[in-house]
Amino acid sequence: LDLEVIQCGYCQSGQIMSASALLDRNPDPSDRDIDAAMSGNICRCGTYTRIRAAIKQAAKA
Ligand code: FES
Repeated sequence: LDLEVIQCGYCQSGQIMSASALLDRNPDPSDRDIDAAMSGNICRCGTYTRIRAAIKQAAKA
């Protein structure tokens, strides 16, 4: 919410599940790690750069 990632919201439940699983096994993921972990989730709104930024923010929290 802080980074206003969501556009239509359709993909976000899957994105959040994948991001949570990524952070459980890798608390400091690189861009490559994030891209690999999130590759199964399609966002028709193209929010990928904001999703990546949000994962990095969550990793710092
Ligand atoms: S926010 Fe619309 S499909 Fe991802």
